[in-house]
Parts: sequence; C-alpha cells; structure tokens
Amino acid sequence: MTTATQGFVDEFDLTGRRALVTGASRGIGRAIAIAFARRGASVLGVARSAESLAETMAAAEDLPGRIEVLVADLRSPDSICEAVETANTRLGGLDILVNNAADDHESRIEDTELSTWQRVLELNLQSCFLLTQAASPYLKADDGGKVINVSSMLGTVAVREDVAYVSAKHGLIGLTRATALEWARKNVQVNALAPGFVETEMLAPSLADPDVAAYMRRLTPAGRIAQPEEIASAAVFLASAGSDFMTGQTLVVDGGYTAQ
Ligand SMILES: NC(=O)c1ccc[n+]([C@@H]2O[C@H](COP(=O)([O-])OP(=O)(O)OC[C@H]3O[C@@H](n4cnc5c(N)ncnc54)[C@H](OP(=O)(O)O)[C@@H]3O)[C@@H](O)[C@H]2O)c1
Repeated sequence: MTTATQGFVDEFDLTGRRALVTGASRGIGRAIAIAFARRGASVLGVARSAESLAETMAAAEDLPGRIEVLVADLRSPDSICEAVETANTRLGGLDILVNNAADDHESRIEDTELSTWQRVLELNLQSCFLLTQAASPYLKADDGGKVINVSSMLGTVAVREDVAYVSAKHGLIGLTRATALEWARKNVQVNALAPGFVETEMLAPSLADPDVAAYMRRLTPAGRIAQPEEIASAAVFLASAGSDFMTGQTLVVDGGYTAQ
C-alpha cells in the first residue's frame, strides 16, 4: 500500500495501516510504535505497565497516526487472544504484527532451572507463535500483511551464559522462516529484525558498569551502542510496501557485530 503525493510515491508510508506492537511501554517497542504513528499508522501497543504505556500513547499526540494501548501479560494465552481481538476491534482490522516483548535471564546451562528456561521461552518464543496464530485471519484479510519478529543478533550467533535467551531468539528466526513459507502466497511477509546492543532497560544493568559498557562498544565495529530509534527505522521498512518482496529474512541491525 503506497501513497502518491505530487507524483512521489512514498513506499515507506504507513497511512491507514493497523499495527499491534508488543512490549510498547518502553525501549525498542515504544520507538517502533512511535515511528509507525509518525508514518501514519494506527497502533495498539501492549505491555503490562499502564503508566509507561500511557507515556507511549502521549508521545503520538501530534503525529499523523495514533497509538492506543492495552495492558496485558503476554505469558497468558488468553491475554494474547484478547490483544489480537482488541487490535482488530479498536483499529478496525490488523495489517502488521510486531512481536517485540521479551525478557532476558543470563545463566550458564548447568545453572539454568527448567522453570527459568520455560519462563524465557514462554514469552520470547511461545507468545510470538500464539500471537502470529491468533492474528493470522486478520493479516490475510485485506491488502497484504506483515509480521516482524524482533529477534536479536543473538538469534544468529551465540554468547556464553545466556542459554535460554539465545535459544529462544534462534527459535524465533526459525518461526519467522516457517511462517514466511506458509504465508508467502497470501501476500503476508514475515521477517525477523535482529538488533545488536541497544540502550534500553534490558541492557541497563550491563551499561551501568563502565567496564562492561566499554567492552560492548569495543565488540561493536561501529564503536557505540544503538538508540531504539535506529532499530525502529528498520521496523518501518519491514512494515511498509518497501519490503513487499522480502520474506523469511533476518534484517540484522548491529553496528557490524556479526560481520566479524
Ligand atoms: N536492548 C538490546 O540490546 C536488545 C538487543 C537485541 C534484541 N533485543 C530485543 O528487542 C526487544 C525489545 O527489547 P528492549 O531492549 O526494548 O527491552 P525492554 O526495554 O526491557 O522492553 C521490553 C518490553 O517488553 C514488555 N514485556 C516484558 N514482559 C512482558 C510480558 N510478560 N507481557 C507483556 N509485555 C512484556 C515490557 O513492558 P512491561 O514491563 O510494561 O510489561 C517492555 O515494554 C526484545 O525482543 C529484545 O530481546 C534487545
């Protein structure tokens, strides 16, 4: 879907598109919700914190699109169905699903309890599967759909002592490819986005230690940590008509980390 203005077609325009963005209360999810609204989309942002979601919604007040919010814990399958149904009702349909909500638990494989493994996988992989399944009829209904699975550079390479997170993020790239193949003829593109180090609450404990922060910068060829908006701009591309011939792929935005 594109908009022509004075002969210029903006293939990254999202006017009239309806998006569900999980984990929109802060960090990368908030930046994606705002970037979509800036391009004209209507967004339903989902997370657990009502207060932080309200801040995300307020940030879109003067933008061409709009952000509505829903408080939900995506570890619950019932809440996942509610989120998708709410998006369809409040936005009048659903064209774009961004599976972004996740959390991390760093531990060595020998020290990782089964309950920890299950908890990480439940949010970082299973919820994405259930959201995609629930959104399926709506994404296929109108003028083509998009699924963006926010994986990580740790979905393409591993690090030590982060076994559940690394496994879930690799699994999410598998889910991306499998769904992409099934839906390619339905004009629904399914891609993964793989950020490197980004300055958000998830990374805050590491960045609080100057030695660890310096180490992360050294590991990144660009020599710095990304801002959430730099990931959101890649999400705009994957949500827009500009990526209509791209499916089953992983767009890595990591300052060169995985090029080494
Ligand atoms: N930051 C990085 O360096 C980095 C690097 C690579 C990949 N990523 C990926 O990017 C995505 C966003 O990460 P981020 O850095 O923006 O993390 P973040 O700042 O910790 O944000 C995580 C988001 O997920 C939501 N969330 C957590 N648990 C939830 C639950 N049970 N139900 C609903 N929402 C839940 C949080 O909101 P509430 O707490 O309000 O629920 C928050 O909005 C994740 O998939 C992450 O793995 C991040």
